[in-house]
Amino acid sequence: LGKNVIHKEVADSTQSVAHKEALHGAPHGTVIVADEQTKGKGRMNRQWHSASNKGIWMSIILRPNMNPGSAPQLTLMTAVAIAEALSEIISVKPKIKWPNDILIHHKKTAGILTEMQAEQDCIKYVVIGIGINVNQTEADFPSELKNFKATSIRLETDVYFHVKDIIQKILLRLEQVYDAYMQTDFTHIKTKWEHYGYKIGEDIRIKTLRHSFNATFLGIAADGALLAQMENNETKKIYSGEIEWFHD
Ligand code: BTN
Repeated sequence: LGKNVIHKEVADSTQSVAHKEALHGAPHGTVIVADEQTKGKGRMNRQWHSASNKGIWMSIILRPNMNPGSAPQLTLMTAVAIAEALSEIISVKPKIKWPNDILIHHKKTAGILTEMQAEQDCIKYVVIGIGINVNQTEADFPSELKNFKATSIRLETDVYFHVKDIIQKILLRLEQVYDAYMQTDFTHIKTKWEHYGYKIGEDIRIKTLRHSFNATFLGIAADGALLAQMENNETKKIYSGEIEWFHD
């Protein structure tokens, strides 16, 4: 990964650059990095604030030989790689909020946006977008983001990091977990994911497209779904949705 790096000072979104490159045949492992994004995208059509040189804004093109239904596992895998890379450089243990937010001290520091182009039962390519708040100070965050408990590595650790160093660590980790995953199966990732999992064993509130409900978070299933023990004691697998931030 990262043998082919495309660097932009400014991009609308590294995701859209990656899609264009992928459609023009960019090889597996191509990485697009921008210093600044003018239209950074988050999950669920949210905006992603990507101020100049304050964080990591990058997208990675993967061409895995796998079934489109397994693509969400790539997101969980990426979260593991980020958590492992951050663990090497900071003294706090990062947590992964299902499916893919990276938290430091319960606050969101990084997010992942996975987009896929598939044809019938075959993945053409996957773009994994990684956004990591690295050097923002309090004043760099717009006020509405305080509701989402956004933070940066610097705010939580008081240390200034070079964005490039973290990118290298993440790409290295990602390559390792990706190879291991391709050679074996998801079990390997699942164990690592659960090691960093946020609120496993606790009561959470889950929001899916249609409704919100309370459940106990049991962990993740062999296919990456969230395992929820419902109030009637049934176990349910959740494939898409989010864990809500606040509930009482
Ligand atoms: C989320 O948590 O909602 C996902 C955020 C993903 C942000 C990254 S920054 C690099 C890439 N380009 C984008 O426009 N989005 C992703």
